[in-house]
Amino acid sequence: MSAQRVPKSRILGTGHYVPEKVISNFDLEKTLETSDAWITERTGIRRRHVAADGEVTSDMAAHAARRALADAGLEVADIDMIIVATISGDSPMPATAAFVQQKLGAQNIPAFDVLAACAGFIFGITVADQFISTGTARHVLVIGSELMSSVLDWQDRGTCVLFGDGAGAVVLGPARGGDRGLLATRIFTDGTLASTLTIPAGGSTEPLTSDGLLRKRNKLKMMGKQVFRTAIKYLANSSLAVLEDAGLGIDQVDWIVAHQANLRILSQVADKLGVPMDKFIINIHDVGNTSSASIPIALDEAIRDGRIKPGQTILMSALGSGISWGAAVVRM
Ligand code: ACO
Repeated sequence: MSAQRVPKSRILGTGHYVPEKVISNFDLEKTLETSDAWITERTGIRRRHVAADGEVTSDMAAHAARRALADAGLEVADIDMIIVATISGDSPMPATAAFVQQKLGAQNIPAFDVLAACAGFIFGITVADQFISTGTARHVLVIGSELMSSVLDWQDRGTCVLFGDGAGAVVLGPARGGDRGLLATRIFTDGTLASTLTIPAGGSTEPLTSDGLLRKRNKLKMMGKQVFRTAIKYLANSSLAVLEDAGLGIDQVDWIVAHQANLRILSQVADKLGVPMDKFIINIHDVGNTSSASIPIALDEAIRDGRIKPGQTILMSALGSGISWGAAVVRM
């Protein structure tokens, strides 16, 4: 096992936002051939939050960002960069981060999106860590924000029951010595699996046409079983790889904040890692799969309710469309 890396960046504050409106499994029973029993047993999801009419991805991102800034004791003017991870942004162009910058009132700082689907938050903090490590940026807002309800086919019971809307944010800043901060991150992509989880139309491969709209080619399509198997393997592998990089064993991890896609995936990852399920922060029953927002929402909830405490070691891992996946170890 390698020696522990001295962290260069650290989480200074966290925040999250989920919309007020809730759709329960029982609500879905009224419009779909599904049941609360099937969804709960197969996924662990009981309800999900969905955005209000007119509420967009950058609105949720800005709410979460303001909470993270307040938690960090920083002002908007202290931020040097905004990174938004999303697959359900305000529009194809410009970046959703540009709208977030405008809503926060930040000026003259770079603001861009990263697209790694459910793994987007891990990709985002990896990018931010690089800028902070080199001294190019001091304080970076990393936000995962998803309006998944806008990219779902609400008649496809194989996908629409799984996802929810929401946003989570962290402010990363210099670690300033000591052992608190981002100890290691690892990110991966296997493009040969790109077709397992897509929104097919709306780009150069398949421009959106009226026929495509009728066939809902602008909505999320997923080969659930393949993604399921891949997720278990890669979430476990990347977790072990990043722990090795951090010079830590799994027994030194206090909490695992993994992407909330399916409780059965998390339980099989727990088996592979040889840890009990009570090591995992779980909120999938309340929010569903919020894609890139999943980890920062769960992280912020667990910090605010006192489960995650300063000095504890957190393992994060996520996998999504791409297929892209990654893991990170952070000491709070
Ligand atoms: N209600 C009732 N029945 C359903 C539902 C539903 N909501 N959805 C599917 N079924 C049926 C299917 O039609 C099928 O019926 P059949 O046997 O008559 O054909 C049966 O249930 C079994 O379907 P499967 O797809 O085999 O069910 P599975 O156990 O694989 O669970 C699920 C499906 C929950 C989607 C699972 O495969 C999964 O969680 N996959 C991974 C999803 C994931 O991790 N995504 C992460 C990335 S997301 C991102 O990047 C944006």
